[in-house]
Amino acid sequence: MTALGIFSSANLNGGQKLAMKYFAVSLALFGAQILFGLLAGLQFLMPDFLFGVVDFSVNRTLHVNALVIWLLYGFMGGVYFILEDEAKHPIVGLGLGNLIFWVLTSAVVIVILVYLLVQVGPGEMSSIWLINEGREYIEAPRWADIGITISMLVFFFNVFATFSKGRYTGIGGVLVLDLLALAGLYVFGMFYTPNISMDQFWWWWVIHLWVEATWEVLVGCIMAYMLIDTMGVRRKIVETWLYIEVALMFGSGILGLGHHYFWIGTPEYWFTIGGFFSALEPIPLVAMVVHAIFDAGVHKMKNKNHPALGWTIAQAAGNFFGAGVFGFMHTLPQINLYTHGTQWTASHGHLAFFGAYSTAVIGFFYLAAQKARGNVWMSGNLPGNGWKWKWAMALLWIGMIGMTMALLIAGYEQSQIERAIEGSTWMGYFAAQEHPWFIQAMVWRQLSGYGFLLGYILLVWDLLTIGKGETRPAQVVETGTH
Ligand code: HEM
Ligand code: HEM
Ligand SMILES: [Fe+2]
Repeated sequence: MTALGIFSSANLNGGQKLAMKYFAVSLALFGAQILFGLLAGLQFLMPDFLFGVVDFSVNRTLHVNALVIWLLYGFMGGVYFILEDEAKHPIVGLGLGNLIFWVLTSAVVIVILVYLLVQVGPGEMSSIWLINEGREYIEAPRWADIGITISMLVFFFNVFATFSKGRYTGIGGVLVLDLLALAGLYVFGMFYTPNISMDQFWWWWVIHLWVEATWEVLVGCIMAYMLIDTMGVRRKIVETWLYIEVALMFGSGILGLGHHYFWIGTPEYWFTIGGFFSALEPIPLVAMVVHAIFDAGVHKMKNKNHPALGWTIAQAAGNFFGAGVFGFMHTLPQINLYTHGTQWTASHGHLAFFGAYSTAVIGFFYLAAQKARGNVWMSGNLPGNGWKWKWAMALLWIGMIGMTMALLIAGYEQSQIERAIEGSTWMGYFAAQEHPWFIQAMVWRQLSGYGFLLGYILLVWDLLTIGKGETRPAQVVETGTH
């Protein structure tokens, strides 16, 4: 261990060194996501902007793919970060894990370059293999899919083998099973069928069963570690909650899949199944909020990393509002008939992804920053009263809420004019799209996006400097107090 306050890999164990690489790429791709989001947003206001140079379809693809990849990198980093400490054993196959990091990262860079260099072309098998598969969020061509699957298997091997050789914990057990499901589901987004209903049917297995089942559980595991590590919450309490949340999550989330089967040509019974089970989905999210408040209360907010705690609380609240409340709003078929595919959906999509997942990854960035500087003080009384992390958090949230609300207003307007008044006609679509309320909402989304960008810049600055020159060791949190 080097002196306190100095950023050094000597402060980290093997898994944590690898985690830092994942976190670095994750943070950079977060920036790329914002950049392409802002370009796509500008094209709503100025449709000719960059037309033929970087088309809207390309910006949008890069925006949502960068999102999925930076979150996955953040999760993988989070898992590698906790692995040795949780299993009390050095990572099995770390060399292979390191190799896979470089393979995966090279593949990501190539895929991004190909998206930018080959923007239009024929819809042939060679395009699916080499250029773009055309399935939203997971557009990566098939060669990359195969590479991603192999990388995931290595990642799974690292986690599984380390827990097998080391200590078994509840968090470890849930994590291993969940990663298996997460990697297995990816395969359903890989095969090709010319029938669009069938294609969508399977594609949702990846998208929905990732974000509303396996990702939630993964985040549950790493946040459980976060609570134990930063606040000293007793393992038994955390793991009991984890089991309850996982049971509720899978109980509602798996058949909740039906809320995507209302209008794609699937049988009518999905109305009932999808409506009923997805309406239950907010319940585990409420449990998570109760859990977080309970722990924070019992420990009187005493913890060793204030920014990480701030983002943990933000995660519980963001997950509840973004996924639970904003998801519930449009999940009944009677309502979804009017809101389906409008900006209402985008409003929910933004708040849910940010609230449930970006927050968790940012919390881990702070945990890593603390550890890399030799486990320094990061509780109250930070230099300058910790203004940077607080303003970064405030600006990111103000930006996100601004975007979400603007999109919600646009979504209301579309549901009313395009669907209710004009009866979902082609003309109705344009009437809604050209209405001043829609255009104003797009302006507000863009302005909020700039605020979000400022928050991101401040976040990066803070992560690079927090704890620099700090001489106090981290606050000690006693375990086993409740
Ligand atoms: C963190 C968890 C969640 C995330 C990240 C998330 C994200 C998203 C995204 C991005 C979409 C748009 C998909 C597309 O491109 O068409 C979507 C659609 C949808 N989500 Fe969620 N969601 C989450 C949880 C939930 C929950 C808990 C519910 C219900 C209670 C829900 C209900 C829906 C519905 C009904 C749609 C379809 C909207 C439409 O018909 O256009 N979501 N979600
Ligand atoms: C500067 C900030 C951002 C801007 C200006 C922005 C803009 C956009 C735009 C223009 C689209 C395309 C919408 C459409 O096709 O109608 C989009 C889609 C999307 N963005 Fe963002 N975005 C930003 C940040 C974020 C963040 C931080 C997240 C998540 C953490 C996110 C998640 C998504 C998702 C999930 C979609 C797909 C939504 C759907 O299909 O319904 N965006 N964004
Ligand atoms: Fe869903």
